[in-house]
Amino acid sequence: MENEKGASSSTFKMGNSAQERSLPYVPDCYAVPPSYEPRDALDSKSESVPTIDISRLKGSDDERRGVIQEIRLACQSFGFFQIVNHGIDQSILDDALAVAKGFFELPAKEKNKFMSNDVYAPVRYTTSLKDGLDKTQFWRIFLKHYAHPLHRWIHLWPQNPLEYREKIGKFCEEVRILSLEIMGAITESLGLGRDYMSSRMSENGMQVMAVNCYPPCPDPKTALGLPPHSDYSCITILLQNLTGLEIFDLTAHGGSGRWVHVPEVKGVLKVHIGDHVEVLSNGLYKSVLHKVTLNEEKTRISLASLHSLGMDDKMSVPCQLVNDENPVRYRESSFNDFLGFLVKNDISQGDRFIDTLRIKD
Ligand code: OGA
Ligand code: NI
Repeated sequence: MENEKGASSSTFKMGNSAQERSLPYVPDCYAVPPSYEPRDALDSKSESVPTIDISRLKGSDDERRGVIQEIRLACQSFGFFQIVNHGIDQSILDDALAVAKGFFELPAKEKNKFMSNDVYAPVRYTTSLKDGLDKTQFWRIFLKHYAHPLHRWIHLWPQNPLEYREKIGKFCEEVRILSLEIMGAITESLGLGRDYMSSRMSENGMQVMAVNCYPPCPDPKTALGLPPHSDYSCITILLQNLTGLEIFDLTAHGGSGRWVHVPEVKGVLKVHIGDHVEVLSNGLYKSVLHKVTLNEEKTRISLASLHSLGMDDKMSVPCQLVNDENPVRYRESSFNDFLGFLVKNDISQGDRFIDTLRIKD
């Protein structure tokens, strides 16, 4: 058999990728630029990742104020925090991870029913970030589907494994309720009040579920599961079964920044500030740059639930956050605008949606 090590990315189309075939080596098209630092962060101090007990949001006024302050600090410094005591049962989290893993273990024929490179498809299974045209490939297999309102989309989801719809559906519903609570705390922390976004997010808001699988990689030092990127969403809530997620701490090393390894603690959920909360805060909060590193032994599963406004509902800077010192720093945009960006740009090469929204001074 011809050695495909030097083969171009066109050899590794969806359904035939190195990670789906468990190739024992990493083909050249998976090698990321050294600037992406594919290894686990060497000087990683995971204890520096903010962890917030959000049960106190339902406590006394003082307790709520305390959490809001912690959220504000975390959003300003990292654009990221972990949450504990979030109220979602461990069994719901475990079941969702198990049924997601079950999906990826199905025969190719079953999974390929959902195969699509169309970023507008409400359900799609793929290995590619961009229309199968990625310059660099990533060691990830994923299923992405819309999740809210559930009754509108659930009949399009996989029926195999048998419990997929039930278990992922339950997880989606619980995480969505949590997302509204966290968004309320975020808008409150910006001085906008806790209901500032609630009707726009709860009625017509989008929830997109990325169900990710990162098979063991024979050479985790050269490839990545996902390149450094930020999410377009308002917030993303993430559940993982193993470590692998790293976030970029902008403030470290006197402003030059460093990658921080996010630990896995059972039951903990991670919250990413996305591009649309950066806009909502007029730049006070930063959408977090994050990436996924790989390991040689185990399959990593993650469920990323992206919460945003409705498809065509534009996020803009609130007038309350604009004054002489703080002019409007971002153009308005919608989820649909992001999809248009995705078609024209290449996230694998470092293109970021938020950069297209910034208004230059
Ligand atoms: C994503 C993402 C991280 C992970 O799907 O956008 O960043 O840990 N996932 O899989
Ligand atoms: Ni992401």
